Amino acid sequence: MVLPGKSNGGAEVDGTSRRNFYVVAIYGLWGAISAALGLPALIYLLFPPKAKKGDEWIEVGDIGRLAPLSPVELTFRRTRVDGWKVISEKSTAWVVKGADNQVTAFGPQCTHLGCAYHWEEGKGQFLCPCHTSLFSSDGKVVAGPAPRPLDRYQTRLNGSKLLLGKLQEAPHPEKKS
Ligand code: FES
Repeated sequence: MVLPGKSNGGAEVDGTSRRNFYVVAIYGLWGAISAALGLPALIYLLFPPKAKKGDEWIEVGDIGRLAPLSPVELTFRRTRVDGWKVISEKSTAWVVKGADNQVTAFGPQCTHLGCAYHWEEGKGQFLCPCHTSLFSSDGKVVAGPAPRPLDRYQTRLNGSKLLLGKLQEAPHPEKKS
């Protein structure tokens, strides 16, 4: 029989070992949760995802279908990696086939403030509707306020298939050497 105020040695040992077990279990659980939350962040910081190479080429169409000196707007999708997200974006290019079959592809935005321009068949020029900049079929500024020619994509031909690379910013005319 156990007297009040006196402890039972066996029960105290049981209580202590049970308390130790709970302490170890709680710390173990806390460590596992911390690892589960912290490990992905650590991996993200130490091993960021590889961005796709910037010089990726995209096939946009067959130039055999294009009439010489008659610009056509071609639509394509470009995939890029932003952090962990892979984003597929729709983009366009104004493609002009020269009389010599040489192909030029212009970026779709006016070099003034970035509006979308279009080809004016009657004028034989690209017209930006925002502030009426005009560009010739080879991308040069005919009338401002656009400060520089149209930007151009890198181009490559695979047979009659046109591939586009990076969009390259056209230099300001006064910066040309
Ligand atoms: S954005 Fe094209 S002329 Fe201004």
